[in-house]
Amino acid sequence: MTEQQTPVLELDDIQGPVLRNRPLPYFGAYLLLRIDDPNHGREMLRLLVPRIASAANWQNPAEKVWINLALTFQGLKALGVPQASLESFSPEFQQGMAARAQAIGDLGESDPSNWEKPFGSQDVHVALAYTSGEEAALEHRLDLARTNLKDLPGVSIIYQLDTAMLPSVRTHLGYRDGVSTPLIEGSGSPALPGQGPAIKAGEFILGYPDEMGNLSPIPQPEVLGRNGTYLAFRKVHTHVAQFRKYLHANAKSPEDEELLQAKFLGRWPSGAPLVLAPERDDPELAADPQRNNDFSYYEEDPKGLKCPVGAHIRRTNPRDALKDTITNVNIHRIVRRGFVYGPVLPEGAMEDDGVDRGIVFLWMGGYLARQFEFVKSQWHNDGDFVGLADEKDPIAGANDGTGTFTIPQRPVRRRLHGIPRFVTTKGGEYCFMPSIKGLQWLADLDT
Ligand code: HEM
Repeated sequence: MTEQQTPVLELDDIQGPVLRNRPLPYFGAYLLLRIDDPNHGREMLRLLVPRIASAANWQNPAEKVWINLALTFQGLKALGVPQASLESFSPEFQQGMAARAQAIGDLGESDPSNWEKPFGSQDVHVALAYTSGEEAALEHRLDLARTNLKDLPGVSIIYQLDTAMLPSVRTHLGYRDGVSTPLIEGSGSPALPGQGPAIKAGEFILGYPDEMGNLSPIPQPEVLGRNGTYLAFRKVHTHVAQFRKYLHANAKSPEDEELLQAKFLGRWPSGAPLVLAPERDDPELAADPQRNNDFSYYEEDPKGLKCPVGAHIRRTNPRDALKDTITNVNIHRIVRRGFVYGPVLPEGAMEDDGVDRGIVFLWMGGYLARQFEFVKSQWHNDGDFVGLADEKDPIAGANDGTGTFTIPQRPVRRRLHGIPRFVTTKGGEYCFMPSIKGLQWLADLDT
């Protein structure tokens, strides 16, 4: 295969979530498991392998439930993966998310010492995701899983987090999510206007050429690494009342409140992008996939007068805005999936009710360091790359009540002060999501 050819991706071997989005509406459950007996762990994999949803059969999962599985470094050890293989995984994955807290800005309230148990402990070995468009189908599968595990006492469910789409089809902070995602070469997904150039598959799936023209490194043996991907799983609590209060206190009018909310993100709550709808929301634009992502920054909004340069979507995907710099944005693209958990805070409520609500954030890619960790450290929690000194992402940044948010406007820019923390990490894990053949190899281990 020459570098120019589009690789043929082995879709029936690649787990679906890296290439395909979740259903809408969705009901989901994340189970975290501990393996005390490697033979029971392998037996569980043997039962699950035929049921894992690949990117090939994504539209029609068995019994209407998508099942996917990833393992932590401790999980690979618990299954008895040989040392030489363990050492072939990326150093960040080997260290685990909690150990990388400094690099990704999990500080203060988000510090791993404050995480919910069992996150960040040596006990989290397997993350199992069940997703369905129908609640009853999901419950049925979960019951079956629990029944099967009764025969495998060497494997325990140590945590469960349920997710479900909110009736508003938005996230707790009021925004619609899941509008923009990179186009991956060979994925078979149709190109949508504004997605940017197709990104080489090796950026996201191991074993294919990446944007640097290299073959992405594969953990060994090849059957375990190829067609796999790294995955960052984060449970993120959102401070909804805090968010509403801050907007209310800093807005000049009710219309201004919604504008500030849009300026933080770069899109109106409906999903309409500020670059295309700078002054007021445009729900029709928001609902049109041919138009709602079809914009860039360099020509259309170089100074951020429409979409602030520090807004969440402009930081996390600067598109063409950095084209006069040495930064190659294509090596920092992010494949992410968000799932909402917890009940809605009633509309208009301004006081915290103490209930846990937020999102499960999933990142998937070939390079933990130059994708997930780079975006967290350089683009979320620093502002240098867009001339904003140490200003942080207003939504996802590690704010502590002392930072600012700059809104470019004429004749004088507007600057908000005292940006509180709107999201707190409650826990998370770095995982490896092997291919289906990789899972079979793990199931067949006889060490
Ligand atoms: C922690 C709480 C977070 C919230 C509430 C949040 C929310 C959102 C929302 C509402 C959008 C707009 C919808 C869209 O463009 O698809 C968005 C876009 C995006 N977010 Fe986040 N996000 C969070 C964290 C993160 C993190 C940790 C990353 C990366 C490490 C990230 C990367 C992105 C990217 C790449 C986009 C698309 C930008 C584009 O292509 O224009 N987000 N996010």
